[in-house]
Amino acid sequence: MVQIKIDGHSSKYGIIGNPVTHTLSPNMHTQAFQEIGINAVYLPFEITENQLPDLLNSFDLLGIKGFNVTVPYKTKILPFLDQLSAEAEILQSVNTVKKINDDWCGYSTDGSGLVRSLADMSIPIKDKRVLLLGAGGSAAAIAYALMNADVFCLQVYNRTQSKAKDLINKLQPHFPHRKFSIDPKQVNSKFDLLINATSVGLNEDISPVSTEIVSLCDMVVDIIYSPLQTKLMKIADSLSIQNCNGLGMLLYQGVEAFEIWTEKQAPVKKMKETLFKSFV
Ligand code: ATR
Repeated sequence: MVQIKIDGHSSKYGIIGNPVTHTLSPNMHTQAFQEIGINAVYLPFEITENQLPDLLNSFDLLGIKGFNVTVPYKTKILPFLDQLSAEAEILQSVNTVKKINDDWCGYSTDGSGLVRSLADMSIPIKDKRVLLLGAGGSAAAIAYALMNADVFCLQVYNRTQSKAKDLINKLQPHFPHRKFSIDPKQVNSKFDLLINATSVGLNEDISPVSTEIVSLCDMVVDIIYSPLQTKLMKIADSLSIQNCNGLGMLLYQGVEAFEIWTEKQAPVKKMKETLFKSFV
């Protein structure tokens, strides 16, 4: 690795959110810039909601070239952006922003990040049956990406069924030939893949679904990575079902953001190593 000196020519990137003290992205992206010899830094910016209207002008003044957006601003940032990718427009959610000429352009890489992490693990999803738990922002991004990746059918299962219905209504017009369902009675047949996109299991030892439902699935992905092994994953283990946590999604949403900003292939190995080291 060439050691790049941070100097007066350094490009500036960052992440906005509140809180951002826990974020692993500054280290991952700064190491990635270094790895492929890009003179750039990536910093956390903890902002309040009333600072949001002035943010992009401030970033213009400071010469910030791009940034990530995390909770609670993924939707709140939208009115201040000039352009949205097709995916961000449909999802009404942005986690990556890039300055292109005079425009601030918004993208959503969460769902495509998950799909890329599945490809990295050689888990096929084309023509597969997927059970998706949740209907919030993460679930919507994942549902969009799964449809884009040609899954055969998507069953959305959520505590509040009306939200699952809203999610399907939002996506179905964009994927008229795909099969969606929110009928809980249909959660009784085999699924190739179960994805937990609820917050159930985050820092608690609870599973979002019963052992019986888990046993219907050939593979389990939990997008939670704290704890690294969730209750859902433990259940999958006890049934000898292959499973993984959300570190892959976290990694690849960053990989995709890096590639949007730099238009270069991200140093995935280095980013993975940096991210995974944060957990040992
Ligand atoms: P995110 O942006 O991380 O997706 P979110 O939009 O707040 O967060 O969505 C949280 C998801 O977790 C929702 O699907 C939510 O279900 P509801 O729509 O019924 O609220 C789900 N969730 C959160 N707490 C839950 C709980 N205790 N039991 C079941 N589902 C829960």
